[in-house]
Amino acid sequence: MGKALIIGAGGVGSVVAHKCVQAPEVFEEICIASRTKSKCDELKQKLDGGKTKIQTAQVDANNTEEIINLINKFKPDIVINVALPYHDLPIMDACLATKTDYVDTANYEPPDIPKFEYKWQWAYKDKFKDAGITALLGSGFDPGVTGVFTAYAKKHHFDEIHYVDILDANAGDHGYPFATNFNPEINIREITAKGSYWENGKWIETEPLEIKRKYNFPEIGEMDIYLLHHEEIESLAKNIKGVKRIRFWMTFSEKYLTHLQVLQNVGMTSIEPIEFQGMKIQPLQFLKAVLPDPATLGPRTKGKTNIGCIFQGIKDGKKKTYYLYNVCDHQECYKEVGSQAVSYTAGVPAMIGALMVMTGKWKKPGVFNVEEFDPDPYMDALNKYGLPWKESFSPELID
Ligand SMILES: NC(=O)c1ccc[n+]([C@@H]2O[C@H](COP(=O)([O-])OP(=O)(O)OC[C@H]3O[C@@H](n4cnc5c(N)ncnc54)[C@H](OP(=O)(O)O)[C@@H]3O)[C@@H](O)[C@H]2O)c1
Repeated sequence: MGKALIIGAGGVGSVVAHKCVQAPEVFEEICIASRTKSKCDELKQKLDGGKTKIQTAQVDANNTEEIINLINKFKPDIVINVALPYHDLPIMDACLATKTDYVDTANYEPPDIPKFEYKWQWAYKDKFKDAGITALLGSGFDPGVTGVFTAYAKKHHFDEIHYVDILDANAGDHGYPFATNFNPEINIREITAKGSYWENGKWIETEPLEIKRKYNFPEIGEMDIYLLHHEEIESLAKNIKGVKRIRFWMTFSEKYLTHLQVLQNVGMTSIEPIEFQGMKIQPLQFLKAVLPDPATLGPRTKGKTNIGCIFQGIKDGKKKTYYLYNVCDHQECYKEVGSQAVSYTAGVPAMIGALMVMTGKWKKPGVFNVEEFDPDPYMDALNKYGLPWKESFSPELID
């Protein structure tokens, strides 16, 4: 059917490439491009031999001209952006210049301000519309599948959705005293930021990790959950009419939070550059360099993730509760694609998002979040490509 250019060859990029070659009828050719070309070449070596033709390239995702040149050379139908959130805008500019469809998994965040928001990318709506191309934003698991779950709940189970609680649990153990399951810089910026949730038409801000509850997760058991700000709250608040409250919860162990507290106290999580041996370094980027590379956690991580959404609302005049979730086993993911479940649960939906656009099921000029499309083909693809979902009609609720 066509060609995809994958930008980024880290934990998530590797899963995307593995999954694209599992659908060669759609992804006839892929090009894996990143800052460090050797990582792309390693991936190509692992994946070559199937029906999908694979190329690799070196590219600086901050440099729109370089991306344009690569797109003009490879001529992809779509660019799958799984580099870092700072690269969303340069890559979207290159897609505009070359009239190429675009998909990503994380919204834009300026490198010097730890605040992710959709406003920068939503501002491209008319430009993408005029160019006749599609940008699909946030097609990972969260954001991504959580938005598709919401659209599915709305379509099949509710007349009105009033409350959404998004729960992201990772009960995996990698055996290190401290490591992050995806890019440490992005992960730590997210957790150390203030929390917030959407209630009655406005944002309620909390101190970082101020609100804590316990939740008994299916197939995982009881864990501590903390309220965080998360990007899909912003798009769901805009796109799900009548919603009264949306909250996002993530599990953290006491051990993880104690390490993080110490690192914060000594200034290691700061993004303010400091002078070190005659050069400027950002403490958080230095910390990233000394922490285990998330891509190497795969063989060590045991246990499961459970990510899903609890919906409360009205159906046929009666109150209704519905829980949609996916359980993913770290070791099973590693056996299949050589990565743990955190990269797997983000990479599979990125491939599915690209597949939706390439097959024309979700192709529409403009810039869209996943919940703005028909969820059914995406939900089928989740079952087909390794993230089967489960449902419950009487879940435990969070107060
Ligand atoms: N929605 C979700 O559920 C979800 C979940 C997890 C992650 N994510 C997102 O997925 C993305 C990738 O995460 P990850 O865990 O795979 O991160 P990662 O392992 O750090 O990989 C990032 C990749 O981007 C490349 N890169 C960095 N700067 C670049 C530049 N200037 N030019 C070209 N390539 C560059 C890196 O190259 P090097 O090898 O040279 O460093 C690496 O290959 C992030 O945006 C993250 O926020 C989304």
